Amino acid sequence: MGTTTSFRSFHFIIWVLFVAFSIFHPIVSANQLSIVIGQSTSLLVSPSLAVENSPGLKPGTKVVCERVDIRGLSRLHDLKKFAHSVKVKVLQNSSSLRRPNVEVCFHRNASLGVGMCPHGRWEKVSKGSWFKSMSPFDHKILDIRMARSSLETVVVAIEEGKIFQE
Ligand SMILES: *[C@@H]1O[C@H](CO)[C@@H](O)[C@H](O)[C@H]1NC(C)=O
Ligand SMILES: *[C@@H]1O[C@H](CO)[C@@H](O)[C@H](O)[C@H]1NC(C)=O
Repeated sequence: MGTTTSFRSFHFIIWVLFVAFSIFHPIVSANQLSIVIGQSTSLLVSPSLAVENSPGLKPGTKVVCERVDIRGLSRLHDLKKFAHSVKVKVLQNSSSLRRPNVEVCFHRNASLGVGMCPHGRWEKVSKGSWFKSMSPFDHKILDIRMARSSLETVVVAIEEGKIFQE
């Protein structure tokens, strides 16, 4: 009897762990935001990773950052169907009166910490929007930073308007 009970509770624990893992795992992977060219087109991003000493800022400035992976197509994809560039956009939708300062760094160095792009690589999202073109076959990284007090949600989108051209 005792053996059966502990056997059952063992199974119960495994079951609980399994359920917990299934519930929490998507949250964990959701931390790595990504846009896959040809599959997804936009993402709402609320930077939440607190970063200190992000390059180029006054010492002691605290910012919140977020990283979005922009994953291109493999070259094995139907080459002819895709245009040779995709536009990556960052849009602020807050009103122009109190638009927080948002900066982005568009790079491909995966070993750089989030928000640690060198000084001079950061670009301002001016007048509420920023965009850059990239090859649909590239894999790029978009780091976003803003003052910790801003708490703004930005939209990261890719424009594939001309991507499907026969
Ligand atoms: C920004 O856009 C999101 C999603 O479209 C919306 O929920 C939010 O209210 C917008 N914020 C402002 C300030 O317009
Ligand atoms: C990528 O970032 C790492 C860490 O900062 C740095 O050591 C390395 O030189 C960078 N690589 C390139 C190609 O910039």
